[in-house]
Amino acid sequence: MLYRIVTYGCQMNVHESEKIAGLLEGMGAAAAKDGERADIVVFNTCCIRDTAERRALGNIGVIKGEKRKDPSLIIAVCGCMTQQEGAAETIKERYPYVDIVLGTRNIFRLPEEIKRVQDARAAMKKRSDKRYRAFDTEYAEDYLALDEATPVTRTSFPNAWVNIIYGCNNFCTYCIVPYVRGRELSRPMPAVLDEVKRVVDEGYKEITLLGQNVNSYGHDLSGGESFEALLRAIDRIDGKFRVRFMTSHPKDLTDGVIAAMAESDKICSNIHLPVQSGSDKVLRDMNRRYTRDRYFSLIEKLRAAMPDIGITTDVMVGFPTETEDDFADTMDLVRRVRFSNAFTFIYSPRKGTPAASMTQIPYAVKRRRIGELIKLQNSVTKELSEDYVGGVYEVLAEDVSPKHEGMLCGRTESGRLVTFPGAPERIGEFVKVRINEARSASLTGTTED
Ligand code: 5AD
Ligand code: SF4
Repeated sequence: MLYRIVTYGCQMNVHESEKIAGLLEGMGAAAAKDGERADIVVFNTCCIRDTAERRALGNIGVIKGEKRKDPSLIIAVCGCMTQQEGAAETIKERYPYVDIVLGTRNIFRLPEEIKRVQDARAAMKKRSDKRYRAFDTEYAEDYLALDEATPVTRTSFPNAWVNIIYGCNNFCTYCIVPYVRGRELSRPMPAVLDEVKRVVDEGYKEITLLGQNVNSYGHDLSGGESFEALLRAIDRIDGKFRVRFMTSHPKDLTDGVIAAMAESDKICSNIHLPVQSGSDKVLRDMNRRYTRDRYFSLIEKLRAAMPDIGITTDVMVGFPTETEDDFADTMDLVRRVRFSNAFTFIYSPRKGTPAASMTQIPYAVKRRRIGELIKLQNSVTKELSEDYVGGVYEVLAEDVSPKHEGMLCGRTESGRLVTFPGAPERIGEFVKVRINEARSASLTGTTED
């Protein structure tokens, strides 16, 4: 049995797909190679913006042809999209060839549902009649325990993703995540520490701690756990490895976490701190619960504690209440903070969220604003990149360069992407690289060892 997993969305989903792969391999399946026909196709979907959703639905539509040619194909859809109100029913009706729909907190049921689909098909051949389809997006009550027992087939060596907290309690008014991923659930600290030790023993060199809001880690546990305590405990684990984490909510980023980052050997001086907007009014309307001044003061604290820190962000334009003045505030913030990189988004109304029912801004206005924002950030990124030229940095060799033969790529501690000459055998090594050239977002260099 061969499987193919098609993943959309964030790192959380990338890691979820590693669990789906683990479950499928647990039932004896193997990954189909590029171009090879699969027996099982799993779509791990995202619904954060309309574009993500449309891309997934488009591909689920396209696979109809494959299923027609090969009726034995099993098609499963899981992930965030399935968890929206009415979505499972819609998929059931509109995509009759989809066999299985599972949600964000019951994916470990995939093997048993595949088995049922197969058994029902075998029975059909023997003239009993029913086709079996599974549509279940109920959150499992004992999710954490079931998740702990889920096998993982890792696909991103030398990086290992490690979940620390699931779900989100924040209800930013534009965001669908709290509706499709449920309330916050922290993994017990010993479980996280065990997993980190295990992957370090297996040779992984970079651990990325995952959560919608890693800074609220531990508040739902009873032993005084916190993100700061977790970072400090991970830093004490033996071995040479790096630790990154995402995503941090500015309202919950404590002085203790900043101190833990600065005082540790292994936690990278790198943070992804989504600001979303530079306008206090828009931040309030988004229910972000911080002001632009509070954001500036966090940036100051981070840079005072770690002068070389790389700070990246998410910024959104076109939130319903964003005026030209509000947008100017965002531009001003981006100009002043000087992010090493920013992920920029056009606000996309998500059904069922408060902002979706407000009066919307014309698309042309949103387009113009995002164009201006991207142009500004590109020039900042380019300027900051030039500061690296001539310096020697420790880079973890992470992959072969997608564009340049004979080259590898990896990142500095601060998170800057670097391309340098090297053989694929060096992937997973820490390499000293002298930076010779800066393009906008990426740096190129030569190895020093
Ligand atoms: N429209 C556009 N962008 C969104 N994001 C979250 N919800 C929406 C939406 N409805 C962005 C935010 C978040 C990132 C993961 O996606 O910037 O930080
Ligand atoms: Fe969405 Fe806000 Fe939660 Fe992030 S913190 S997942 S933006 S609701």
